[in-house]
Parts: sequence; structure tokens; C-alpha cells
Amino acid sequence: MKQFLIICFILCAGFAGAEVVTLKITDRYINLPVSHSVERAVMTFTVDGRKERTFDIRLAPSVAEADYWVFCDVSHLKGKTITISYEKSADDTGKAIGKSGIYQSASISGADSLYRETNRPQLHFTPRRGWHNDPNGLIYYEGEYHLFYQHNPYERDWGNMHWGHTVSKDLIHWEELPIALYPDEHGTMFSGTCVIDYDNTAGFNKGKTPAMVAIYTADNPEKQIQCLAYSLDKGRTWTKYSGNPVIDSKEKWDSKDTRDPKVFWYKPNKEWVMVLNERDGHSIYTSKDLKKWQYESHLTGFWECPDLIELPVDNNPANTKWLIYGASGTYMIGSFDGKKFIPETGKHYYTTGSFYAAQTIANMPNSDNRHIQIGWGRISHPGMPFNSLMLLPTELALRTTKNGLRVFSYPVKEVEQLQTPLFSRDKLTAGEANQLLRQYSDEGCLRLQFTIHLSHATDAGLNLYGQRLLRYDLNYNLVNDVFYSPEDMTSMSLTVDMILDRTSVEAFVDGGAYSYSFQRRADVRNREGFHFYGNRIEIRNLKVFKMNSIWGKR
Ligand code: FRU
Repeated sequence: MKQFLIICFILCAGFAGAEVVTLKITDRYINLPVSHSVERAVMTFTVDGRKERTFDIRLAPSVAEADYWVFCDVSHLKGKTITISYEKSADDTGKAIGKSGIYQSASISGADSLYRETNRPQLHFTPRRGWHNDPNGLIYYEGEYHLFYQHNPYERDWGNMHWGHTVSKDLIHWEELPIALYPDEHGTMFSGTCVIDYDNTAGFNKGKTPAMVAIYTADNPEKQIQCLAYSLDKGRTWTKYSGNPVIDSKEKWDSKDTRDPKVFWYKPNKEWVMVLNERDGHSIYTSKDLKKWQYESHLTGFWECPDLIELPVDNNPANTKWLIYGASGTYMIGSFDGKKFIPETGKHYYTTGSFYAAQTIANMPNSDNRHIQIGWGRISHPGMPFNSLMLLPTELALRTTKNGLRVFSYPVKEVEQLQTPLFSRDKLTAGEANQLLRQYSDEGCLRLQFTIHLSHATDAGLNLYGQRLLRYDLNYNLVNDVFYSPEDMTSMSLTVDMILDRTSVEAFVDGGAYSYSFQRRADVRNREGFHFYGNRIEIRNLKVFKMNSIWGKR
């Protein structure tokens, strides 16, 4: 039920320069129109004389000027009268909350077409509205995978960092929950991790309920500091630790770039380990209680979003190595004694393209010894009121190759539940494969698995409406312009598993030895559809699946 604000304009002294309206909260949501033709300005909600929230928004001057709508969940304020103030920005003439069309409702604006919007990814998590980036606090707990994420609820561009929250029982179907962490007096909520404090080391537990503790960065104009919050109800509501921050290392590093704590329990030493990106690399800290942290060591050569995990080599749990990486996914393999990481390899990559800031899922169930990673996909969706996506969860493995130990990543088996087989054929010419694929060229979501075999071509590949999905150049050993050295350098074949969503392409080469992802952008003038090319190539084992939406019937 739509309820336009019955607004009483009060230009009061306490809000100099700002337009102010008061509003009695009767519904769950306040819907706000956004226009990218206006500058951002500060909106503040005040309740009982207390600042309840403050954020930047490009409030559309009128309903007609709205590019899209965003929302605030105000269910906790039901029955209260709130004051909304909006500071006019410098460019702003005549913009007014009263005329903007802000309204309260039991549902968000656009709820009727939610998840069915033209460019809404159908296989990947995206939030209902707004911007999102890094996955945060990935953790499995009591039957649910929690995916928190960097989130701007008020615009489809970066800003106002909150921790959004979504949960899944199978890593595929996600249910978006209310925002987990709001900006506070320490700053906006930057990336971090979650742990379950089974032994109550921090003292946040209640009875038999262990606290889920979030260790995150608060970002303010002066510095980036590490803070704690905890939840006793499976991440639904959070309490910030009163002793925040727990680490303030700005002076030590003479830098504001100290962020993205990744924390895990290191059993041999019975203590917590934190990997924190500080200026030019990843630092290791240790703690007995998550509150007091001891600096241990520093490894240069990484930027943002660290992860450090122990992985079996070739699936052998008796032989493990440690993997450390940064936001781009470039990594080193080595040893770790709880205090210091010693690299034993060079720096390598296993994925390129839109992938960034990935994290592995903590606290996996004992019966599941997989190491699952989710990365942020820097992919946008033209015309949509939300931006970017979470890439498909992949399983990480360390394998011995002719080039040495390497990381492999491959979509989790849970993805297969979305598949409906369309056809499968072997030993095709490019022309035959193109003929078979033509009718699926406009399909939004597909999975294509095949081996492309070269004998008379130095390069070959697959396009879709003029966009390059794959190009293998065996003269320069390039896959889509990135150097790739296949395990069997004499085979002349490349095996590819490609998942297409409405706006994205993810491809896994040779069982995940290398993968890439990018935005799907058909050239609208191109009539070609799927098009394999390359002199006398053979397409072997072509399997094509239609991929069904994760959003189900709504
Ligand atoms: C990486 C990053 C992190 C930071 C977050 C802010 O994408 O820059 O380092 O915590 O995004 O949104």
C-alpha cells in the first residue's frame, strides 16, 4: 500500500541549510527516488532527538525525474515520528524532499517485478537495490551459508558502505536479509570476516549460544581501524563492541591503507590469527580473545582483501600447504606457523577478468572438506537499480602440475541443480556446432562444455553476437590475451566450461587451471549468434545446458 508523505515542512534552526520533514512510521519501508542527474547530498533521520542514520543520496527532485527507487527498512521505528533532513547540494535549485515523492509502504518500489527485471542476473546473487562489492564474513553456520557484502543501499554506485546480508542453504538460492552493519561513529563499514567464537574467547556468548563475531574495518576520513560486532541470532541483529577499535595501526604504517581483516582460529597455537592488509602487503596478527591483538609479521606484495587458508595438496589431507592471496587473486603458496607465512613459490594467478576481493567460506560443516570461494564480479547491468554481482561459488584445490603446485578453481557441484540438458554431441566441425547452437543464441542463461581441438589453426575460438567469449592463440599461448600454459602442452586442445548469465560470462579452462569472467555485451548490429571459428577445428564433447533461474517463481 502506497502512502505518499503528508509532509509538514518545518525549516528549523537546528537543521540550518537543510529541508526538514517529519513523518510517523506506519510501514516497513521508506521508498526514495534517485536521480543520477543531481549531486549527492546528505540525508539524516532523527528520532527522539537522536541521529538514527545519515547517508549520501541523489534524491530525485520529483517522481518524474527518478532513474530508479531505493529503500530504507524502518520496521524497527514503527510508531515513531522521525525527522528527515536533506542538505541541499551546491548545484541544487529547488530540490525538495516534499516534492520528491518519497513514500512509505509495506513493500519496496518495484517489488512486483523484483528478480525478473530485464538485466537481473538469474544465476548470481545481486541485492534488490543499490551497489555491492566485496563478499564479507562468508561463513557456514547451522544450515546456512552467510554472505555479507559491501553495500550502498542508496545508489547503484559505490559509497555509504554498509554490510548487506544474504543467506543460502545450498550456495545457489539466496534470500536477502536486512542490513547487518550500519555506519557508526567510527566510520563506514569496510570489508572483513566472521568467525563463530565456540570457546567464548571474547566473552560475547550467551549461555550455549556462541557469538558470530564480525571483524571489520571502519573507514573514516582520517584512518581505517579494525572493529568487532557480534550477533547471537545467526547474523540477524548485531551489537557493536564497546571497546572498538581493536586495532589502530595508522601511525605504525604512516598510512590510511590498513584494512580488510581476515580472521581464523589457528588450532596448534590455540589462538586467533588475523591477516590484515597494511599499506604494501599482508600483516599477521594474533589474539587470544579477538580484542587484544599482537603484531607478528608482514609479507609485502599484496593489496587489499587478504585470505590465508590451508589446503591439501592433490587432495591428500596428510600433505597440506598454505595459500595466501590478495584482492586480485594473485597468490603465493607456502608454509605458515601461526605467526609468519613463508612463500615457497612465485606469484601466480588462476583467474582474471571481473573477479576481485574473493573470500573463502569459514566454518564449513565437518562432513564437507571443500574450500569454497566467492569472488565479487565487477560486472554491471545496464539500466538496472543495482550494480555488480557475486560470481559463482567455486571450489579451490592445490594440484601438482608440470609447472609446480598451482591453484585450481571450479564451480561448486551445487550449480548443477540449475541445469536442464539441451543436447550433447561429439566431433563437430565449427559449422556443425554453429548450426546446433544457433537457436540458443538469445538464451539468457546457458552452460556450454566442450573441448576445442586445433590442428591447422594457430588461433580459434567462440564468439556470441560479435563478442569474444573465447580465443585460444597457441602461437603466443594466450587465452583471451592472457598467458596460459596447458598441462599437456602438446595436446592442441583446450577444454572449456562456460556459464552465461544475462549480463556475465564465466569460463573455466582445463578443469579450473585457469578461469576468467567478464560482462556479456552483445554487439547489437551483429546477427551471428554463437560462432565457433578457426581453420579446421574440431569441437569435441559439446554439452549444452539451459540454466534455470535461482530466483524461482515469485
Ligand atoms: C576492495 C575494497 C576493500 C574495502 C572495500 C570498501 O574492493 O576496496 O579494500 O574494504 O572495498 O568497499
